[in-house]
Amino acid sequence: MKIVVGNEKEISALIAEDFIKVINEKEKPVIGLATGTSPLQVYADLIKANKEGRVSFKNVTTFNLDEYVGLDGTHNQSYRYFMNENLFNHIDIDKANTNVLLGVGDYQKFMHEYDDMIAKAGGIDIQILGIGSDGHIAFNEPNTPFDSLTHETELTAQTIKDNSRLFNDISEVPTRAVTMGLKSIMNAKKIVLIATGKNKAQAVYGLIKGPITESMPCSILQKHPDCTIYVDEDAYSLVGNK
Ligand code: GLP
Repeated sequence: MKIVVGNEKEISALIAEDFIKVINEKEKPVIGLATGTSPLQVYADLIKANKEGRVSFKNVTTFNLDEYVGLDGTHNQSYRYFMNENLFNHIDIDKANTNVLLGVGDYQKFMHEYDDMIAKAGGIDIQILGIGSDGHIAFNEPNTPFDSLTHETELTAQTIKDNSRLFNDISEVPTRAVTMGLKSIMNAKKIVLIATGKNKAQAVYGLIKGPITESMPCSILQKHPDCTIYVDEDAYSLVGNK
């Protein structure tokens, strides 16, 4: 596990370069994408690089980590909407090649097909992750089995509280989600995780220093052969001080 400490702008620019490198090297790149506020600057940097002609998404296939159950892709808090607004609408990607789990309709059927779809596309070449304050990655909450594939899950009270800042009221936050599993994530060939801010410090400590335990889902990343953790000083503060 490699660790890079810098401010949000610096680490986002480095992650964008990691993506650009993989996309430019591969004939049919497959990239794994995340939602949340953490990757926003990375996506802004990728949009800029695309407009400058430094990278093209014409041959890129994407897979997103997760989606809320009950939200249609047109809902402004759905992860499909987030991805369209913050990345896909601004780059030269074919939307047919963008895959986001469904939250309504026959979403369970799609969820069960998801890992096979990723495998058929050749596997994820590079996956970006954020991290929850309780150590979740995607929506793999504490005590999710390490061998989990894409599945439906219940969100913890902590996650619902954390994510309520983006909704009008906490009562509007869905209580269930569909998410790639920990095994699905570990199958990615390369992983980059971004964490900023003091409220991520405990999770980042568990991620880097903690025992590998299902009660701290992100700790499994210690076993990944090509994983880089990008953090700012605040998120890194407990690791740096202990
Ligand atoms: C949600 C997402 C995660 C994300 C986390 C942190 O729970 N499912 O993928 O990592 O939020 O979000 P933020 O980056 O906004 O702190």
